[in-house]
Amino acid sequence: MFQQQHGIIGESLEMKEIIHVIQQVAQTDITVLITGESGVGKEVIAQAIHSASGGRAKKPMVTVNCGAIPEGIIESELFGHEKGSFTGAHETRKGYFEIADGGTIFLDEIGELPLAVQVKFLRVLENGEFNRVGSSLARSVDVRVIAATNKDLEHEVRTKNFRPDLFFRLRSVNIQIPPLRDRREDIPLFVEKFVKEFSEKNKISFLGFTADAMEALGEYYWPGNVRELRNVMESMLVIGNGKKLSGDDVRKYLKGYQAPEGERNLPVYVAKQNEFTERELIYRALVDLKSDILHLKDMINGAVRSTEEIRAQTTNLQNSVLPHSFNGNNDDLSLEEMERRWIIGTVQKYDNNRRAAAQALHISERTLYRKLKEYGVL
Ligand SMILES: Nc1ncnc2c1ncn2[C@@H]1O[C@H](COP(=O)(O)OP(=O)(O)OP(=O)(O)O)[C@@H](O)[C@H]1O
Ligand SMILES: [Mg+2]
Repeated sequence: MFQQQHGIIGESLEMKEIIHVIQQVAQTDITVLITGESGVGKEVIAQAIHSASGGRAKKPMVTVNCGAIPEGIIESELFGHEKGSFTGAHETRKGYFEIADGGTIFLDEIGELPLAVQVKFLRVLENGEFNRVGSSLARSVDVRVIAATNKDLEHEVRTKNFRPDLFFRLRSVNIQIPPLRDRREDIPLFVEKFVKEFSEKNKISFLGFTADAMEALGEYYWPGNVRELRNVMESMLVIGNGKKLSGDDVRKYLKGYQAPEGERNLPVYVAKQNEFTERELIYRALVDLKSDILHLKDMINGAVRSTEEIRAQTTNLQNSVLPHSFNGNNDDLSLEEMERRWIIGTVQKYDNNRRAAAQALHISERTLYRKLKEYGVL
């Protein structure tokens, strides 16, 4: 079966439709744009298109993460450069397009491509031509392009971060992968696959999930999609050390992320991580303001209360308005320190997966990389 042959899991109507499209386009040279939230399987689908593409499949797919390459060198990474074309260009170098000649190039996070490079990319898509940086010679290659993004490119066009002509060119074949919560029928299949994978890997004989546990897995919101399900499976298996897991075990494990009661099967609005961050900053500012006012009031009234008393009052106030993650000993934190803690905490939460963390924080991977460098974590 096509799915098994190309490592795609999914029996939902949505996945069947996607597989149908893949079968139709794989053997052509048509550019494909794959969109969907983080962790839905964009790379899996790109790989399937490549491996079902016939002759091209004999060559490896060259994957380029446009979000991780510093802006200044992205053009030369993609199209290559001539010796001496810029400081540090000691040798002539082929770019990824030339390296992928005869095969497929997968441009991941295409929404991160700087505008100046977008126009050059459009030229390759239109007539297969490009120039190495520092060369006036137009070159051409035989490359199939697959691009992916979890950004809303239409929005990027509206905010002038993405060229409309490139957007229209790219979206002619657009595979939109729905989030996992919109194809819950696939959850048991993924559970089965990951349980098998991790029990073999960790040499655990797992006694399985109760029906209630499967229900709990089925109704969870899965903001991190299949990637999150995979991570959850691994840690639950390892932590449980093979014991049969009940609905309560699963719910307890997923508690921190659960969508609000009563909304689990509805299209709920889940605040994005940076909205929480902003909200928390506002909360904190309000708390600080309120505590300043308390101090002022005390001074005016001449009733000098002990610092402890005021502190206790402020803490009560914090506990009543601050979201859970920011309670605790956060007094005296500067804005920078709060940002640092939040960023590092998010990276840890995503098991050092910088891409997932950057997406959760709604900053680019490039920015995250820069911040972590600044903090001395890298
Ligand atoms: N249909 C699928 N079949 C098998 N495995 C899948 C499928 N979808 C996702 N996965 C698994 O889920 C994880 C995340 O998939 P992938 O890296 O393709 O997501 P993505 O959409 O590219 O995410 P990101 O936007 O963060 O790059 C991988 O481990 C992948 O193997
Ligand atoms: Mg990906």
